[in-house]
Formats: sequence, C-alpha cells, structure tokens
Amino acid sequence: MLYRSLYRHWFSRVDAERIHNVTLAGLALVSKSALLTRLLALPFSVRDTLPIETLGLRFAHPLGMAAGFDKNGIVLGAVGALGFSFIEVGTVTPQPQAGNPKPRLFRLPEDAAFINRMGFPSMGMAALQRNLRLRPSLPIGISLGKNKDTPLTDAQRDYNAVLTRLYPYGDFFVVNISSPNTPDLRKLQTRAFLAELLSSLRETLQHLAGDAAPKPLLVKIAPDLSLNAIDDVVDLALTYGVRGLIATNTTNDREGLSSPSRAETGGLSGRPLREHSTAIIRHIYRQTGGSLTIIGVGGIFSADDAWDKITAGASLLQAYTGFIYEGPSFARRLMQGLHRRWLAVGAPAWSTLIGSEVEEPVR
Ligand SMILES: Cc1cc2nc3c(=O)[nH]c(=O)nc-3n(C[C@H](O)[C@H](O)[C@H](O)COP(=O)(O)O)c2cc1C
Repeated sequence: MLYRSLYRHWFSRVDAERIHNVTLAGLALVSKSALLTRLLALPFSVRDTLPIETLGLRFAHPLGMAAGFDKNGIVLGAVGALGFSFIEVGTVTPQPQAGNPKPRLFRLPEDAAFINRMGFPSMGMAALQRNLRLRPSLPIGISLGKNKDTPLTDAQRDYNAVLTRLYPYGDFFVVNISSPNTPDLRKLQTRAFLAELLSSLRETLQHLAGDAAPKPLLVKIAPDLSLNAIDDVVDLALTYGVRGLIATNTTNDREGLSSPSRAETGGLSGRPLREHSTAIIRHIYRQTGGSLTIIGVGGIFSADDAWDKITAGASLLQAYTGFIYEGPSFARRLMQGLHRRWLAVGAPAWSTLIGSEVEEPVR
C-alpha cells in the first residue's frame, strides 16, 4: 500500500529510467553487504517455497527476475533477498554500448505497462564477468545479445563470444533474438538464421563443456511471431538441443491502450501482454508436451496470473513490470497466493500442475 501510494504520488513524476537507476544503485549497495542483504530479506523474502527441479537445476520456487532489470549483474544479492528464486542477467553484449538515446523508458500507469526502447545498454561482457565473480546462491541465467553495430550476418560471432566468456558464471544461457529495439534483431528468429545460430552455439557449448553435460541453452521469443513461426522455432530448438523457451519478450502491439505514452516506439511490457504470452505458452506446451522447459513471462502481477501461466505449461516464471508496479513485497505476496491456491487444489505434486489446463498435448 505504502509503495503503491509512493509510486503514484512521487515516483511517477520522475523520469522512469532515473528512478530505475537510483533503485539499482541502492540495491547494489545492499548487495555488497551481507548484513544489509539479510536485513532486506527479513520483510521481503519468500516463505512459501515450492521447490522445482528443471533444466538440471533446483529452484526454491518458480518465480524469477526477468532479463533487463539487472543488465550488468550488480544487484544479485538484493534480488535474492527480495524473494526471487533466480535471475536472468543482461542482456549483455560483447563490447560495452550506450543503448538508444534517452528518454527510452515510458510508464503507462493506466495500462499497468511500460514501453521501452533501451536498445541493450550494456557494460559489456568483461564487466559482467567481473561482477559475477561473487556468485550468490540463486541460479543465474545469462541473456546473450549482440552489439548494435554488428551486422546480422556476423551475429553468431557476438553470441558465441559472450557465451564463451561467461560460460563458467551462468547456470543457463538465453539467446535473446526477440528484442524489438536492436535493428533487425528479430530477423534472427527466422528459420535460416536461427538454424545457423543454434548450430554454432551447440558446437560452442559442447566444446566448453568438454566431457561434462553442456549447461542449458534457451531461446527467448517475441510475442509477435505467428504460430507457424513459433512452430519453426520449436522445431529448431528440438533439433539443436535447446532445452527451453522463454515466452515472451515485449510486444510491438498497441491494441487497447489508454495511457498518453502509448504511441512511443519500443516494446510494450506488463498487463496488456499477459493473455497473449499465456496463449503462446499454451501453444508451445501443446506442441512439445513438456519436452522443452518453458519459462513464462509477460504481465504477471498476481498469483492468479502466475497460476494461469503454470497450468498453461510454464515450469518457471519471470516478471519485471509487475515488480515495479507492485513493489518490494511483490514476490512474497505472489508466492503466498500461489501456495494458497496449490493447497486449495489438494497440494498435488507440483510437476502435475504444469500444463494441466492444456488438453491433449502432442507427445
Ligand atoms: C525496461 C525493460 C528492459 C528490458 N530489457 C530486456 C533485455 O535486456 N533482455 C530481454 O531479454 N528482455 C528485456 N526486457 C523484457 C523482459 O525481460 C520481459 O520479457 C518483458 O518485460 C515481459 O515481462 P513483464 O510484463 O513482466 O515485464 C526488458 C523489459 C523492460 C521493461
């Protein structure tokens, strides 16, 4: 309540990116101190755990922090203290880059949404490597990107470079080919580009893993793909040993918005994305019958939103916009609600809930 009131009356008057940066600076300070991290965890950590095993990893519960919140890996401890069970850092590019000119992040409070056209501001892979040396206990995904000035035909070089440099520091890796803010990036989702990219990444992973099993690679997709194009991505993912899909990134769609900033260029996140991203999760689950791990993201604000994505087929969840609108008790409250709902249906084995609403998955 206090946070929402502060947000409405004070935060919302300040430029959205400036508030984000001030928040990150505070959380970075907290992350550097074991004592402050413990203090932050007291009111906000999640008590209602629902352990999940997937991707060969163990998660205390399904809710993680989505990519883009901590692009440079500076607030990992605080994100854990705020109750998230994992974090996807990045998107990180090989070389440092500034991203698009500001302003590039816009609030749409009437729609519980954001539009961003950040364009991968990144301190680069060397800085992320330094920041990840002090590993927290929660699983870490690393979102791989390409520099803006790298031509599409050389994109694989960038993705492979980041993967190679950061392999020891992540638990899973995500090929981000779905940001709308790097020119032409989404073309990498087309069959010919993606086949080549995934084939080269598989080779790199095998080389990096040596005799061990390679760490999981996932692909993050845009919600603006047609179902046929999603089927292509699913098919290639299965062909090239990709372990999961993240559905979805932000959308170019602007239907039904009422906020004054709705015409800004960029990717739309938050509530307006919720149903569509759930429909895509359901479609992927139906096509794969659970053989790919799905991380569901897009418009999660409440336990009911989370439930819908899990029963549509998501094993794990991520949120970003919901956390900004709901505040620091977001994860604790959401997990409380999810736990309650799980008890209300008789506390079944958690894995039986995943995709339980989908009829006749194709196995
Ligand atoms: C400001 C901002 C920056 C983002 N940056 C990235 C990014 O660098 N890489 C990425 O894969 N997704 C990025 N995203 C997308 C989120 O990870 C997520 O897929 C999307 O916002 C939908 O989830 P939400 O509705 O919970 O925010 C960003 C989102 C926002 C709002």
